[in-house]
Amino acid sequence: SKGNHRHYMLKEIYEQPIVVAQTLRAYLQRMEEQVTLPIPDFDLSAIKRVTIVACGTSYYAGMVAKYWFEQFARVPVDIDVASEFRYRAPVMEEGGLMIVISQSGETADTLAALRHARSEGQTIAAVVNVPTSTMAREADLLLPTHAGPEIGVASTKAFSCQLAVLAALAANLAKAKGKLDEAEERRIVRHLAEAPASLNAALAYDESIQAMAGVIAAARDVLYLGRGTDYPLALEGALKLKEISYIHAEGYAAGEMKHGPIALIDDAVPVIVIAPSGPLFDKTVSNMQEVQARDGKVVLISDYDGIQAAGDGCIATITMPKVHPLIAPLVYAVPVQLLAYHVAVAKGTDVDQPRNLAKSVTVE
Ligand code: M6R
Repeated sequence: SKGNHRHYMLKEIYEQPIVVAQTLRAYLQRMEEQVTLPIPDFDLSAIKRVTIVACGTSYYAGMVAKYWFEQFARVPVDIDVASEFRYRAPVMEEGGLMIVISQSGETADTLAALRHARSEGQTIAAVVNVPTSTMAREADLLLPTHAGPEIGVASTKAFSCQLAVLAALAANLAKAKGKLDEAEERRIVRHLAEAPASLNAALAYDESIQAMAGVIAAARDVLYLGRGTDYPLALEGALKLKEISYIHAEGYAAGEMKHGPIALIDDAVPVIVIAPSGPLFDKTVSNMQEVQARDGKVVLISDYDGIQAAGDGCIATITMPKVHPLIAPLVYAVPVQLLAYHVAVAKGTDVDQPRNLAKSVTVE
């Protein structure tokens, strides 16, 4: 049931602190401050390369994970949307780990990619939310997300749980490959363990997000910008908005703006900038200022420090708790989800059952 919530989507957004905690419990030993896998003796030490394949929101979780696998495990990562993957003669060498990510575990393109990788001798890991699904059954290493049933067509809690699993998997791979010392492992466990409380803190800004939804609801086009792991978040924000509010939206890597899309900017195009304070902040802010110089209406999503530093001249700001960069993608998922939700409600669309979409896409 929807409980006290008006839509399943909103209920599922609000469940994130609990389901992320639930998911992390299966991958972290809090007492020992260690990361583990559900199959503790599954050997990842011979993995030389990772290929990630998924669709839609699950694909964006994979894009975030690529940064983590490269950063922690120093393993090269190839990533593609499932419907493109098989048709480009991908090179899959020995020692390759194929990771499929899917809420339903039934998405036809992703399943076909899994089977293709299997025939090429890859080890298959499946990050899935439905433990009885086809992908769950066909994988060598089942990595469940414990998000519980997701009813809203727009994926929300499955995404944050996928990120939690993928962060833990990246740390496990790094450990198996001797790239993670104990102190670093402890730090990762501590940061991940903070995610549920930070998600709660992020949800506290719901009303302020709702208050500014009207400006976005009036727009014809919306751009989302981010850099590093906030780039996939920008893509995810744009997808959420398109799906449920039917407003045209695009996500871009912040630095790509001046290579074309900046031509779109005028005072009718809101630009949502996702920029937690940190090493990438100044660069993203300078891209944001390029937009402002062309009369673009910027909404800045950052923490208190970031908003103090760069919030002037924005039409609105959304304050997030200050978090470690590792969990920022989970936490910043909340405002982009809530923004899409409130815009859709303001437009009066069918939030849980948007037109033309199905929860599970079982045709290729
Ligand atoms: O069940 P899956 O995670 O494999 O589904 C993949 C996409 O179809 C899905 O994420 C879709 O993009 C959602 N509607 C996004 O909100």
